[in-house]
Amino acid sequence: MAENLTVDKNLSKEEKYRQLIPQIKSLIKSENNTVANMANIAAAIKHTFDFLWVGFYIVQEGQLVLGPFQGPIACTRIHYGKGVCGTAWKEQKTLIVADVEKFPEHIACCSLSRSEIVLPIFVGNRVAAILDIDSEYLSQFDAIDEKYLFQITKMIIFQQ
Ligand code: SME
Repeated sequence: MAENLTVDKNLSKEEKYRQLIPQIKSLIKSENNTVANMANIAAAIKHTFDFLWVGFYIVQEGQLVLGPFQGPIACTRIHYGKGVCGTAWKEQKTLIVADVEKFPEHIACCSLSRSEIVLPIFVGNRVAAILDIDSEYLSQFDAIDEKYLFQITKMIIFQQ
């Protein structure tokens, strides 16, 4: 049975993550379907922070394929090494882009996007998916987002 999220809108970003993370844990703990959990995680992050776009791309057939997301419609496939997402996949590291217009490989799925964070999600040492978040404001992501979003990505268990 799904429950409502209770994150106080007046808190700082870090305090919001601290309230959100245990709720995400409890939201996904009794569900082992990866896509279902990704869907609720995307909804929970979007609802808490009201970012422009929050979603997952899943590595399939040698590409990133659009997974569960919240926000405007998006590109369905991204090639290895292309865009912020494909670069995070290739470099196997989190990328924070303060101004997407200054990232040469940026793929503009949504013209309103101004800044972006992309975290790879690993199974062993292989990237299995990425978490992508876009904001319509410049410089919206920093080490606080990276720290807590990393914790969220670690909760995702991939079905074998
Ligand atoms: N901007 C991303 C593409 C995905 S959308 O933002 C949802 C990129 O450059 O990879």
